[in-house]
Amino acid sequence: MIYTSEMLESVAKVEAAREANIALEPRRMTAEEKEALLKKYHPDYREDNFGIIKVGKNAGEKAPLELIEMLEANARVSQLEVNLDKIDYDVDVLVIGGGGAGSSAAIEAHEAGKDVMIVTKLRIGDANTMMAEGGIQAADKPGDSPARHYIDVMGGGHYVNRPELVQKLVNDGPSAIKWLNELGVEFDKEEDGTMITTHGGGTSFKRMHAAADYSGAEIMRTLRDEVLNREIPVVDFTAAIELIKDENGRCAGAVLMNMETGEILVARAKAVVIATGGAGRMHYQGFPTSNHYGATADGLVLAYRAGAKLLYQDTLQYHPTGVAYPNQIFGALVTEKVRSLGAKLINKDGVAFMHPLETRDVAAASIIRECSTNGNGIMGSDGPGIWLDTPMIDMIHGAGTLEKRLPAMLRMYMKYDIDMRKVPILIYPTLHYQNGGIEVNVKGETCVPGLFVAGEAIGGIHGRNRLMGNSLLDIIVFGRNAGQQTAKAVEGVEIGKLTLSHVDDFAKECEAAGIKSDLVSPKLLPTYTHGNPNREAKPF
Ligand code: FUM
Repeated sequence: MIYTSEMLESVAKVEAAREANIALEPRRMTAEEKEALLKKYHPDYREDNFGIIKVGKNAGEKAPLELIEMLEANARVSQLEVNLDKIDYDVDVLVIGGGGAGSSAAIEAHEAGKDVMIVTKLRIGDANTMMAEGGIQAADKPGDSPARHYIDVMGGGHYVNRPELVQKLVNDGPSAIKWLNELGVEFDKEEDGTMITTHGGGTSFKRMHAAADYSGAEIMRTLRDEVLNREIPVVDFTAAIELIKDENGRCAGAVLMNMETGEILVARAKAVVIATGGAGRMHYQGFPTSNHYGATADGLVLAYRAGAKLLYQDTLQYHPTGVAYPNQIFGALVTEKVRSLGAKLINKDGVAFMHPLETRDVAAASIIRECSTNGNGIMGSDGPGIWLDTPMIDMIHGAGTLEKRLPAMLRMYMKYDIDMRKVPILIYPTLHYQNGGIEVNVKGETCVPGLFVAGEAIGGIHGRNRLMGNSLLDIIVFGRNAGQQTAKAVEGVEIGKLTLSHVDDFAKECEAAGIKSDLVSPKLLPTYTHGNPNREAKPF
C-alpha cells in the first residue's frame, strides 16, 4: 500500500464511518441549490478561462481560450503546396475518424452499397470509444420507455438539448443495443440471457448495459472487426488537415497528411463525415483528462473554417471521479459504475457529503467545493481529492462483486499496490467530454452541404451536460445515421472543381478582425512538457 500517513489517518476515519455511511441516503439537492453550486464551482463558469470568438459563424460567442486559439490559428494548408488536381483517393463517402462513430458510419454507408473510406490520424480504434468504461444506455427493459429516457436526457442537459436529436437518440436506443448484440458485443447477461442493467447519475431507470468496466473497448473491438471483415479501406496514421469544397460550396473531400512522412494527399468525396471525437487533450483550464491521445478538437476546427456553426462550444464535462492518486494514472477515468454499485463520496473526516448519483456537473462541482472552500480534501498526487469508498461495494452486494463487475479498475489500481476492495481510492474531477460541438440537423448534416458529423463532435444532443452511457449510445445512433444519410445524400452528386478558397476567406476574416497567431491548426496531437501524459498543468 502506497498511501501517505496523512491519507492513512483519513482512511481510518472513513473505515470507522463506513457502515453508517452505507445505511445513509444522502439527500438530493434542489434545483436552486444545484444552480447556485454550479455557478460558483463548476469550471464552465470560471469566466477568466473563456474568451469571445471573433470570426466565423459563432463570432461574438463564448468559448474556452484554448479552443479559440485553435479556431483562429493559421491553417496548416496555408503553409503547404496542395495540388488539388492530383486526386489520391476518390470515394463516395469519406469518414474522418476511426472511433466508434466513424466505424458505425462506415459500416452503414458500406451496407448501403457505397464506396466508403475511413481516414484516421492514429489507428482504427485509437479513440475515446476505446476508453469508455461504464456502459451504454437504452430504454429496452419492461417498464422503461424512450419517453422516460428522453426526460432524463433533457433534465441532465438542463433542457437546452436539441429535442429532435434527443428524440432520435432515445428512439433508436433499443435497436442500437440489438445491432451491437448481433454484431457480437459480449454484454453482461443473467443466466437466462437477459441483459444486466444498472443506474447512472441522473437516470430514472436501470438502463445502463455494460461489458464489465470495459464496455467501450468491447464495442470498439466488435466494430473494428466488422469494418475489417467488410474490407472497408482504412488509411491510418493519416490526418485530415483541411476540408475541401467544390466550386459550388459543397464539401468535397479533405487534404490529408501522413503523420509519419508528412506526405500530403488529396481525398475527393461526395460526402464527408466528421467523426473526430472530443477535446480532452486540449486540457482546458489545465485539467488532466480521461481522454484518448488524439482528442484535440480537430473536427471542430475543420468544420468551422469550412463555414459550419458550433453549438454549446463553451460547455465541457469534468467527470467527477478522475484518479487523484497515484501520480502514474493521474486524471484517468474511474467509472461512474463504481457509484452505481453503491460506493459513496467521502471527505477527509469520513463524511458522505453528497448523493453519489447526482448528475456529473453537480457531482464535479460538489467535489471541487469540498476540496476548495470547505477544505475537506485529502492531499493526493497534485492537489486535494476526495475518497470514493470502494470497499462498500462488496459489503453491499457480497464478496467478489467488485472483482466481477470492475475487473479492469481493480487491475489498474493493483498495479500500484492499492486494493480498492479494501481501501477507498482518491478522486478529483478530470476533463472527460465535450458537451457541445458542431451544429447538425437530425440527419447529422451541417449547414455546409455534403458535410455530416457523428459522435462527440456533434453539439446539441446532450445540452449542457451529458449523462453517463449516452455517449456510447450517441456514437452508435448518430454514427449509423450519418452512414445511412450520406449514402442517400451522395446519390446523383456531381463534384465540381475542387477548391480551398474558404481557407483563404477565413484567413482574410481573421486578418480583418486583427487576429495574429503563431499557431497552426488543427492541433492533431497534444504537446507535453510534464512527465505525466494525462495533464499539462495543475487544475486549481
Ligand atoms: O463513468 C463512466 O464509465 C463513463 C461513462 C460515460 O462517459 O458515458
